Amino acid sequence: MLFKRISFFLLCILTSSISFAVLYVPTTADAAAQNVNLDYLNQGRLLYTKTCSSCHTIHLPSEYTKMQWALTMNKMQKRAKITDEQKEMIFRYLITKAK
Ligand code: HEC
Repeated sequence: MLFKRISFFLLCILTSSISFAVLYVPTTADAAAQNVNLDYLNQGRLLYTKTCSSCHTIHLPSEYTKMQWALTMNKMQKRAKITDEQKEMIFRYLITKAK
């Protein structure tokens, strides 16, 4: 029983770190294309993994178009209880690899 619990726990850590690693890492070219610095996009990425993964698994940036992300962010901002600034950071990160 205890073993089962521990392995489940380890599995959770493993899968969450894998999805984090797989999630697209922005480049300086992405940052330049959007006129922001790379740190801004990386912060957006981190915020995305932290604030958007509590209710459902993370959706890949490439799953939606820029327009769809804009609409989704409006909807999810209230759910994630994030500020306008945080929302903008996450949005900027997401559209680096939008559909
Ligand atoms: C409090 C829970 C909660 C949080 C936090 C949350 N979501 Fe969601 N999300 C949902 C639910 C519930 C759905 C299912 C569709 C619906 O009801 O709108 C959903 C659906 C989605 C979808 C699928 C498209 C859609 O509209 O159905 C995307 C993409 C998404 N969320 C992105 C995000 C992003 C980005 C964040 C962080 C800013 C986030 N979610 C934070 C609850 C949450």
